[in-house]
Amino acid sequence: MTEATTLPAWQALKNHAQEMQKTHIRDLFAADGARFGKYSLQLPGMLADFSKHRMNAETLDLLCTLAREAGLEERRDAMFAGEKINTSENRAVLHTALRAAKDATVEVDGHNVIPDVQKVLGAMRGFAGDVRHGKWKGFSGEDITDIVNIGIGGSSLGPQLVTQALAEYHHPRLTAHYVANVEASDLARTLQNLSPEKTLFIIASKTFTTAETMQNAHIARAWTMAHYKDEKCIAKHFVAASTNTDAVIAFGIAPDNMFPFWDWVGGRYSVWSAIGLSVMLMIGADRFEAFLSGARAMDEHFKTAPLEKNAPVLMALLGIWYRNFLDMPAYAVIPYHACLARLPAFLQQLDMESNGKSVTREGKPVAAPTGPMIFGEPGTDAQHSFFQWLHQSPDAVPVDFIAAVKSVYGNKDQQRMLLANFLAQSEALMTGRENKEEPHRNFTGNRPSTTILIDDLSPARLGMLLAMYEHKVFVQGCLWGINSFDQWGVELGKVMAKALEAELKNAAPGTHDGSTLGLMKHIIEIK
Ligand code: F6P
Repeated sequence: MTEATTLPAWQALKNHAQEMQKTHIRDLFAADGARFGKYSLQLPGMLADFSKHRMNAETLDLLCTLAREAGLEERRDAMFAGEKINTSENRAVLHTALRAAKDATVEVDGHNVIPDVQKVLGAMRGFAGDVRHGKWKGFSGEDITDIVNIGIGGSSLGPQLVTQALAEYHHPRLTAHYVANVEASDLARTLQNLSPEKTLFIIASKTFTTAETMQNAHIARAWTMAHYKDEKCIAKHFVAASTNTDAVIAFGIAPDNMFPFWDWVGGRYSVWSAIGLSVMLMIGADRFEAFLSGARAMDEHFKTAPLEKNAPVLMALLGIWYRNFLDMPAYAVIPYHACLARLPAFLQQLDMESNGKSVTREGKPVAAPTGPMIFGEPGTDAQHSFFQWLHQSPDAVPVDFIAAVKSVYGNKDQQRMLLANFLAQSEALMTGRENKEEPHRNFTGNRPSTTILIDDLSPARLGMLLAMYEHKVFVQGCLWGINSFDQWGVELGKVMAKALEAELKNAAPGTHDGSTLGLMKHIIEIK
């Protein structure tokens, strides 16, 4: 790939931005009655509207030229083909293989991984069916009623989001709980109302070494053992989703109760793998397959649609336009659905852990700012908190508005009110409303947004939506010349926490800066 910042299109975009800084989106609509048709995309069950952006035909042309000349299409094909594009870890990047067609061939080091993927999916299907149908019992013969997923980051956010999003499809006997935080109340408050005889723990960890997850897993194990006082209970109440067989066995979970995946699945891209086991337990294997099939449809679209009509590519290029040319360092995601409450958190990890980087794949400092700061909350709630800032702050940031047209929850008045609010906000942000007499009531408008409307919040539509964001993040990382698939930035804090933990245990602070020493002394005194 060529460094995008060195390409003529980058410079051309810089010049073009000066002109577009002065352009109001309202005027772009006034000048072109066909704007919505030109800049919105209709995919099966999804409409993505990009017309409320500060762009015209020239912007789009320059952005797509930039992507082509940088070699985006070649790099996309390399990812799908299983090339080791995660160079700092020497790994392929193949979350797309997890949802590929059963008869596809995707090779890593000459080995077709699709049969492996299908084998694990089959094992998950068998296990989920047994639990759901009451064939799999707890150690004392009780049906399982509660599933506790112990995992953090990608081993929690994806499954939690998808499980919550698809609440209407849950098995009536089952409830899923997600414990991520090592702060004691997270696990304690989850367990306080559960019966060890009816609880199934999924220890979800790619590495099976993540400190918080292991700490919580051992406490959950002790909680179960304290009830049964028999090691054999573990086989009926603990399963694992991981790539690390040895560590799973060392923890006491038999390989039969382990659902494996592979190093070519990044944590934040792993909801499609065995990490999605809690989702499958809650919604059933067929709906999980539908979730995968929605993502597969988006993969096909991403691979085959021309860049100008490619939803994840357009999302990515517009993000670059705002981040690098129109000086907008943040970006908001507002799902108008209470069941998508965890979407902003999921996207924060997906995007910020992937693209919050300062060096290129070659280890040189990046030539331009990379991934933006992401924030969000469900609408309409967010309208009553930070929307003031979105409408009237001197800083404008792009917003993604997401809604499902149809609601399963039946109250038509509520859904109409929701959609009216959804439309009103993006319209108000874009058009604004002048008020010279009362400046505090003045709305400048010209605040850009993408609107994503899915027909309904079904497994397939949700799969499409999440895969679209994954590919968006990939495209941006390509153009910024960074490796979107490692996360070395989380390491330093982990290493320091290990040392500090021992020092706190022994009440013996080591060598630290004055602030950290002062804080440690305070903690040691008080606890
Ligand atoms: O610390 C960051 C991270 O490595 C994430 O990338 C990952 O999703 C999370 O921790 C959990 O990792 P694991 O699944 O290995 O426990």
